[in-house]
Amino acid sequence: MKLISGIAVLLLLASCGNNATDNNSTSASQDGSPNGEQLFKINCSQCHMANKDFVGPSLVGVESRWKDRQLLYAYVKNSQDVIQRDEYAKNLFLKFKQVPMLPFPNLTETEVDAIFKYCNDMGAASK
Ligand code: HEC
Repeated sequence: MKLISGIAVLLLLASCGNNATDNNSTSASQDGSPNGEQLFKINCSQCHMANKDFVGPSLVGVESRWKDRQLLYAYVKNSQDVIQRDEYAKNLFLKFKQVPMLPFPNLTETEVDAIFKYCNDMGAASK
């Protein structure tokens, strides 16, 4: 009986270990913080360039264009929802020929921060 529960514990530990590596394999750098460059290239680069306007606006300094950071996170998660209730977002949508931005409900605030940091670094490098 002891042996069986020992094996069960081992199996449990092994599966926990696998989950931990799965979570990190896609976008985290070695210290565990999200990799902004990779996240940007996978999710955003079809429509955004870090330092100039493309399908969507340049993201350099984008934080300073929003009065409310929570609203900015909400916008990345679901821009169409924010466009309904915020004048700045609505005007931006009209300015960019009403091309809707894809929703990213799964990105965390830390990941969005990492993406903005990558864009700001790119902007600074090209000056
Ligand atoms: C399918 C194209 C598309 C993709 C993919 C996309 N965007 Fe956008 N984004 C846009 C467009 C177009 C706008 C301009 C506003 C509008 O039309 O709604 C925009 C606007 C924005 C804004 C507001 C910019 C400002 O000047 O205030 C932010 C922030 C933003 N996008 C972040 C992101 C991030 C972060 C990603 C990746 C996780 C991403 N976008 C992926 C098309 C896209």
